[in-house]
Amino acid sequence: MTGRQRAIRAGVALGVTIAGVVALGYVLPVAAASWIKALHVIAVISWMAGMLYLPRLFVYHCAATPGSETSETFKVMERRLLEYIINPAMIVSWVAGLWLAWVVFRFQGGWLHGKLALVVGLSAVHGMFSAAVRAFAEDRNTRSQTYWRAMNEVPTAIMVVVVILVIVKPF
Ligand code: HEM
Repeated sequence: MTGRQRAIRAGVALGVTIAGVVALGYVLPVAAASWIKALHVIAVISWMAGMLYLPRLFVYHCAATPGSETSETFKVMERRLLEYIINPAMIVSWVAGLWLAWVVFRFQGGWLHGKLALVVGLSAVHGMFSAAVRAFAEDRNTRSQTYWRAMNEVPTAIMVVVVILVIVKPF
C-alpha cells in the first residue's frame, strides 16, 4: 500500500469516527448512556488486549530469521490482529467515548481533559505499531527486542492512568 493510499484510509477512518459521533449524538437519547458505556468498555478491552499483545509479537518476531516460516507466520498474526481487532476496536472506543464525553459531560472536567490527552497519546502509539507491522511485513524492522519490550509497557502505563482518571475522577 502506498503512502497516499494509507493517508486516504486514515482520513476515511477519521471521517467514520466523526460522522458516527455526530449521528449518534443526534439519534440517541441521554438515557442510552449505560448501553453506550458498556459498548465503550467492551471496545476498550479489545483495543487494549491488542495493544498489549502486538509488541509482544514484535519481540518474538525480532528473533525469527527473515524469510523463515516462523517470520511469515508472525506477519500474518500481526496483520490480522491489527486489521480485525485493534483498528475497529479503536474506532468504536473513540465513537462511544466521544459520545459520552459530549452528550453526558459536555466535554467538562479536568479528569476528562487529562484522559483525552492520554488517549490521543495512545492513538499515536497505535499509529507507531501500525507502521511497525508494515516494516516487519517488508522485513525492514531495525528495532531490537529490548526496544519492543520497553514499548510493550507504554500502553500499560497509559491504561493505568486513564482508568484511575475515569473511575476516581481526582480533579
Ligand atoms: C478513545 C477515546 C476515549 C474517550 C473519548 C473516552 C471517554 C469516556 C467517557 C466520557 C466515559 C464516561 C465516564 C463516566 O460515565 O463516568 C468513559 C468511560 C470509561 N472509559 Fe473511556 N474514553 C476513551 C478511551 C478509553 C480508554 C483507552 C480506556 C482504558 C484504557 C477507557 C476506559 C474507560 C472505562 C473503564 C470507563 C467506565 C468508567 C465508569 O463509568 O465507571 N476509555 N470514557
